[in-house]
Amino acid sequence: MEIKADGKDGSLILLKQGAEARVFESTFVGKRSIVKERFSKKYRHPSLDSKITLKRLNAEARCMTKARRLGVFTPVLYAVDPVLHTLTFEYVEGLSIKDIFLGFGSSGVIEEQMGDIAMQIGDAIGKLHDGGLIHGDLTTSNMLIRSSTNQLVLIDFGLSFTSTLPEDKAVDLYVLERALLSMHSSCGNVMDQILAAYRKSSKQWSSTLNKLADVRQRGRKRTMVG
Ligand SMILES: Nc1ncnc2c1ncn2[C@@H]1O[C@H](COP(=O)(O)OP(=O)(O)OP(=O)(O)O)[C@@H](O)[C@H]1O
Ligand SMILES: [Mg+2]
Repeated sequence: MEIKADGKDGSLILLKQGAEARVFESTFVGKRSIVKERFSKKYRHPSLDSKITLKRLNAEARCMTKARRLGVFTPVLYAVDPVLHTLTFEYVEGLSIKDIFLGFGSSGVIEEQMGDIAMQIGDAIGKLHDGGLIHGDLTTSNMLIRSSTNQLVLIDFGLSFTSTLPEDKAVDLYVLERALLSMHSSCGNVMDQILAAYRKSSKQWSSTLNKLADVRQRGRKRTMVG
């Protein structure tokens, strides 16, 4: 079964069509909300497909709930629909870090604000990692700043998993580092600031940052070969 995305009745507005999921804006008992639908892969057997989709849907909900328990802000989960394969979340009012960082230097984003955001990012990742949760997709579009409180809210736990391995934590940080370098080069040493906050937040920072050095090294070799 698929949800109708015509938006004609005003109930669902398509925000993003991805390879694995569609994201809609909607309302849930009168509150502005986000509906994320995981859709089927047509090449898979229907019943197997439904099982896999459902497993991933539940995994995303579970990881988000775990993050929240670890003290990281996430949207409130309103509902899980196992038939339509949807998750319904609270709509977080505010800008993504991507939009904020892209405006750095031009639309009045100041060093101090950058420092505060970097601190919140490093602190949140440290909490996730110490709790054995890897986000799996730490890009600046998966981080929002709630405008009413200026608090960082992490979203999109679709690729998250549990692990206590320093290697997995290092790769999580490396994904963010690459995203910052490629998209936000004008933001200077923001990754250094994030890592400084991470060191304060994570008890296991030392093994993770040692691994991060290895992961960077491998990344560089791959770029030279490719
Ligand atoms: N709770 C929310 N509040 C406000 N905006 C949101 C919320 N959840 C998602 N969005 C917006 O929708 C976009 C896409 O959502 P999300 O990142 O969860 O999906 P995705 O990247 O397609 O997922 P996946 O990587 O699992 O395929 C976000 O980048 C953000 O702009
Ligand atoms: Mg995303």
